[in-house]
Amino acid sequence: MSSNAQAPNIRHYLQFADFTADEYAHVFARAALIKKKFKTYEKHQPLVDRTMAMIFEKASTRTRVSFEAGMYQMGGSVVHLTTGDSQLGRAEPIEDSAKVISRMVDLVMIRTFEQAKIEAFAAHSRVPVINGLTNEFHPCQILADIFTFIEHRGSIKGRTVAWVGDGNNMANTWLQAAEILGFTVHVSTPTGYEVDQSVAGIRSSDSYKVFKDPMEACRGADLVTTDVWTSMGYEAENEARRKAFADWCVDQDMMRAAQPDALFMHCLPAHRGEEVEAEVIDGPQSVVWDEAENRMHVQKSLMEFLLLGRL
Ligand code: CP
Ligand code: NVA
Repeated sequence: MSSNAQAPNIRHYLQFADFTADEYAHVFARAALIKKKFKTYEKHQPLVDRTMAMIFEKASTRTRVSFEAGMYQMGGSVVHLTTGDSQLGRAEPIEDSAKVISRMVDLVMIRTFEQAKIEAFAAHSRVPVINGLTNEFHPCQILADIFTFIEHRGSIKGRTVAWVGDGNNMANTWLQAAEILGFTVHVSTPTGYEVDQSVAGIRSSDSYKVFKDPMEACRGADLVTTDVWTSMGYEAENEARRKAFADWCVDQDMMRAAQPDALFMHCLPAHRGEEVEAEVIDGPQSVVWDEAENRMHVQKSLMEFLLLGRL
């Protein structure tokens, strides 16, 4: 199905800000339909004969399984590449890789290090490129998180999300989402690990508030969420981070400070006893398994939207 023609109107999904609120409403509605069909064993195969290349320069469980299973369910197929088993690991320029790979497939998903790298790939790609996580952003995860919130609690507009932990790719993406979808993020990070508005790529500080004390960030929140203390690529900082983050463990007191019906989310993988207590992640307010499963449903909707537009 791949074409050699340059597609003038291709859309990429490199960060959350790449779509409007209206487009998100469409993607979430389609995801709900696609999920319903999956649950009732009804085929949904709009991507027959389409191929996606998945490039992983970092480890993955959820992202790989959700994209790969999702693509097969929609009638397409995938090619899985890693740094170690491709010429990417032998210094072939990213621009050359983009030109070659995008002549043979219909869609590319990349998990890599610097955002600049995925942007360089997209600039030389003939087909849509999806960010499967960079140092700066993880838009597919926040897509799943917000879809999960909507499923459990309705619209996220006007709600409060507490971010407890590192000012990392997940935190940056939450900030972008808040600006686009109209909710507020309460951010609490240790000193030295704050979010940086310019890295997060947001226009103003109107949609987030910074709290020194993670308990205060959780007060009144509709959703409490966190992530590992050390993201992939930052392992050399492990020991320093263990000390700095000791008080940024989501515990039952923090959940009690939030709304009585507050949800808990974590993109996973999680470290019980570090960024979250086992009683919270395995407790009644946690929706982490729905959140993980929803990666597949929202990404099927995303792939459909990028390849076929509004159906
Ligand atoms: N949450 C997430 O992206 O998980 P993986 O690293 O397993 O893909
Ligand atoms: N912030 C984490 C997310 C893992 C899914 C990382 O980048 O390693």
